[in-house]
Amino acid sequence: MFRAVFDFLGQRYFDHSYFASKSIAMNILVVGGAGYVGSHAARCLVDAGHGVWVFDNLVFGHEQAAPVGRLIRGDLHNRELLSGILREKQIEAVMHFAAFAYVGESVQDPAKYYHNNIVGSLSLLEAMRTARVSKIVFSSTTATYGVPETVPIPEETPQSPINPYGFTKLAIEHALRDYAHAYGFGFAALRYFNAAGAHHDGDLGEDHDPETHLIPLALQVALGQRERIAIFGTDYPTPDGTCIRDYVHVDDLASAHLLALDRLKQGEGLQLNLGTGHGHSVREVIDACRHVSGVDFRVVEAERRPGDPPELVADASRARSVLGWEPRYTEIEPIVRTAWNWHSRHPRGYAS
Ligand code: UFG
Repeated sequence: MFRAVFDFLGQRYFDHSYFASKSIAMNILVVGGAGYVGSHAARCLVDAGHGVWVFDNLVFGHEQAAPVGRLIRGDLHNRELLSGILREKQIEAVMHFAAFAYVGESVQDPAKYYHNNIVGSLSLLEAMRTARVSKIVFSSTTATYGVPETVPIPEETPQSPINPYGFTKLAIEHALRDYAHAYGFGFAALRYFNAAGAHHDGDLGEDHDPETHLIPLALQVALGQRERIAIFGTDYPTPDGTCIRDYVHVDDLASAHLLALDRLKQGEGLQLNLGTGHGHSVREVIDACRHVSGVDFRVVEAERRPGDPPELVADASRARSVLGWEPRYTEIEPIVRTAWNWHSRHPRGYAS
């Protein structure tokens, strides 16, 4: 496809008239861009014509998930390395996905979470200040709301996390607000609901070790890699007694990041929920996994998992109105189908 390319004062500009958004191509550092959501965003940025560099320590990320030749291996705590990269690659904006994200582990070992998610993120923000980069899109989470009183959840809902993971994300949201006010940062904090599915091309997907999420676990049972899936709690105050979540496709999360990038303004911040607004119970998700895989796999009922709120569904109307974001996947089966496409073709994840 023809793209008009201009070289102007050493900066690259693309005419994006063929793409959904009309934006100027930028040099972007995707921190944590070899992980699940980060790799999808990096791919989306490359496809839109941006100059992309991925910075990842590969503790949870996968080399194969990063765009070829664009991975820089390094640690978030290495501020000098980061500011050097920001300068050398003439980075104009950062997307920050790097975090530990196991809720249960954050309760068992909070120090690990405070150190990586807060100290590490502050190191990145300081490197940005040193290198005079002031635009950032930050991965936040529904876990910052804790157990909300009303569902669907609008952004005005008080944020009172019930675990250290949620608290670390909220702390960085606060830091970003203060950095916007004091140092002129432009930021977007995108609060994901349940990220799910896999890239439509079939070569990027979810590969966590250990895996704790419902859809990949259920599909691993369908593939015969696990014996059964347990439903954690069947006595919740929901129509079928199991927890309800808002599963949002990872490609839709990626596209929201690109739209947010276009709307970053110096000294201002956006806080936006990213969800479909549709809730699905654990039983419904498992039924979708059985239907899509064609395998009637074994399901058992188990005790509640501590810390699971009964229902988390987004009011994502602000993302729709502010970004013009429309998730392409709103139903659970098409989301599961993309996940099945990934897991069945990559039964050992990126090691396949
Ligand atoms: N579930 C089961 N059995 C399993 C795994 C999960 O019944 O084997 C249930 C959970 O109890 C929950 C639902 O499936 O009700 C979804 O669980 P996931 O582990 O897939 O996702 P979570 O909702 O726990 O986690 C997501 C994000 C976190 C975020 C959290 C906030 O992945 O990053 O929402 O609540 F912190």
